Parts: sequence; structure tokens; C-alpha cells
Amino acid sequence: MYQHVLVAFGGVSPEHEVSVITAVQAASALKDSGLSLTPLYVSKSGRFLTGPQLLELESYKDLKTLEQQAVPCAFQTDALGRTVLSETRKGGLFSKPKVWPVDVVLVAFHGSEGENGAFQGLCEQYNLPYTGSGVMASSVGMDKRAAKVHAAACGVPVVEGLDFTEAEWAAGSEALLEKILALDTTVVVKPLRLGSSIGVEVVSGRDAIVRAVETGFRYDAHLLIEKAVRPLREVNCSVLGNAADAQASVCEQPKGSAELLSFQDKYMGDSGKGMASASRIIPAPIPEALTEAIQQASLRLFRELDASGVARFDFLVNDETGQFYFNEINTIPGSFSFYLWDKTGISFPQLMKKLLDIAVARHREKNGRVRSYETNLLSTKAVKGIKGLKGKG
Ligand SMILES: Nc1ncnc2c1ncn2[C@@H]1O[C@H](COP(=O)(O)OP(=O)(O)O)[C@@H](O)[C@H]1O
Ligand SMILES: [Mg+2]
Repeated sequence: MYQHVLVAFGGVSPEHEVSVITAVQAASALKDSGLSLTPLYVSKSGRFLTGPQLLELESYKDLKTLEQQAVPCAFQTDALGRTVLSETRKGGLFSKPKVWPVDVVLVAFHGSEGENGAFQGLCEQYNLPYTGSGVMASSVGMDKRAAKVHAAACGVPVVEGLDFTEAEWAAGSEALLEKILALDTTVVVKPLRLGSSIGVEVVSGRDAIVRAVETGFRYDAHLLIEKAVRPLREVNCSVLGNAADAQASVCEQPKGSAELLSFQDKYMGDSGKGMASASRIIPAPIPEALTEAIQQASLRLFRELDASGVARFDFLVNDETGQFYFNEINTIPGSFSFYLWDKTGISFPQLMKKLLDIAVARHREKNGRVRSYETNLLSTKAVKGIKGLKGKG
């Protein structure tokens, strides 16, 4: 079993603050679990820090003081191959750096390196169990184009569109503009690898499109342009489990104040509450058949992607025709989508326990397979035959 949970959050991401909220919420859901929680806070500049105050929302009012008082740390593997979190600050002459045991990492980042597979890869490298999806599902989930290719391959409808890089735009913006104008009178411009609606714009007409494309390139070197779904209704569904055994939650209909859900709508409505505070209708007021189709599509996407833990699948529905389209995958959804599981019969503390159990079971499965190879191919005899080594020619 496991006892020591490392809660990893923050990160060099526009969703830094949202991640802090998710982590604090998760810690609070686990407060009666008997588990010991150690924070691993990645600051806005990318420093790894720890210290008990990092799981208190109050501490984040003054980030400067917070960073000064927190303890710099890093992963370290001991002689037995066990990974711990270790203090990296130099102590006194005879003082040993403090270390914290890690049985499982609770990954609570949103966006960028914390959600795109990079941090997941770090955990793999250190052979640590971690919650949520692995490297591949995380990377595909973060890239809107890759995610659409995946959805289409799963037979889930996607919105018609095109994508291009900044270099392609520089080389032939006129031809690309013609293609965009031929798509639809109103289109949506979005950076490929961001979240929280940053850089996403709904625009009509040549000038507005050019402006939105240029703005988009400030955020990402690769943009996706889609037909605008109108009249639009958004519906999201969460999936929990692993590829072999997954369940879908009730659906939600998030509500935006403007044409599209903005960062403001999603997170700033009721500060401190994260995604749970955004206004939404649960269950989404849509026909039963549509709910079922969206749940089935979400399960299919989750399984085929070999996702793990809790993910959220977002869809765009044409409210006139009832046609639904896959929009995006969130492999670490805001507040772990606990408000959807709550309404599906799984409480927030139960959800967190499940996430940790799944992480530990997946790690055990992986470690149960042969992963080390005793033969040393670089033993003297074998090396003799290799050309190009110094002195051997
Ligand atoms: N093709 C589309 N048609 C209409 N609205 C869209 C379309 N794509 C995105 N939007 C709107 O923009 C919002 C943000 O886009 P999304 O792809 O979800 O990016 P993000 O990763 O930033 O959340 C969506 O929630 C939706 O309101
Ligand atoms: Mg979105």
C-alpha cells in the first residue's frame, strides 16, 4: 500500500493559479484519508519547492515571500533505486539534506509541461507512480490537432478546419486566407497547445481573421482554424478509470457570458473555487440520446488513447441540428472534475483515492514486467568488434 503522497502543482503555465486551486482542493479532499501529503510546488519560474505552507491557499497572496520561505528540492534516487524528494539547499557543514519519501505523485498541474507529458516523463524516468494519463495520452491531449486526428480515427465527428505554422503563414498568407474564407463566414482561431481559451477568437471577415491569426502566433507557432459551430451549446463529460475499465460521468453544460467561454468565465467568477465555481448546468439539459452518444464517444476516446485516471472530454453541439463534435481532451481537468463525479455517485475524497489507487496499480503492472537486461553489451569482448572507437579505427 501507499502512505506518502507528493502533490505536484503550479508550473510554468498560464493556468498556474488554477493548478494551485486544484491542488489545495485535492489536499482538502484527502485530509481525513490518513495519507501524508507533501507538496511539490513548481514556481512560475520553474523552481521545485516544498514546505507545508504550500498547500494553504492563503500563502499565495504574496508569491515573493512564499518562494523565499519554501525549500528548494529535487528528485533523487538512492542506492536501492528508491526515489525520494530531497532538499537541494546547502545546509551546515554536517547537516544532511532533508528528504521526503514518495509512494505516489498526485499530478495536479494544468497546461504546459505539467499536463503535456513532460512531467509524466520525469516520473517515468524516476520510476514513480503518478496519477492521470501517461506520456502519450498527455501529449496527444495537449495538442489540439493530434487530438482531432485521434478523435476522427475513433469515428467521433470533428469540426472541419485547417492548421498552419507561422512559417507557412509567412510564406503564403494570401492562399491560406482564401482557404479560411472558403471554410465559413465565421471561424474560430486557436493556438494548438494552449488552454483556458487563451488566444482563442471567433472572427468574421478578412481583416479580423488576419488580426486573430497574428495574435494567435504570439501564443503558439502553430494555429488551428475551424468552422464556428452555431448556434453553439457546449457539453463536457468526464471519464474515470483506465483503458480496461472506465466509466463516464454525467454530462455538464458550461455557461459562458460571451460567445465563447473565456478565462474569466472559467476561473475568475468566484475566486478560490476554480472550475467548480464556473457556472454550469448538471446534468446538461440535452436529450437522453445525445447524452448517451457523448458518453459513449468519451469512453471510446479515453480507451483508444490509453488514458488513465480522470479526464474530461469537451464537445461542441450545433443546437439547431443536434450534431455533436469532439472539441478537446483535458487529461488533467480543472478541479479533477469532482463536481461531475459528485453527481455520479463518487464523492471528491473517493475520487482522489481512486486516482491514487489507479496510479499505484498501473505502476505495479509496469514494474512486474521485465525491464532490465543483465547482459552488458559493452563488456570487453563485445566492444572489440565496434569500429570507430578510439584506438580501434
Ligand atoms: N469550432 C468552434 N465553434 C464555436 N466555438 C468554438 C469552436 N472551438 C472553440 N470554440 C469556443 O472557444 C472555447 C475555447 O476553445 P477550446 O478549443 O476549448 O480551447 P481551450 O483549450 O482554450 O479551452 C470553447 O469552449 C468554445 O466556447
Ligand atoms: Mg476548452
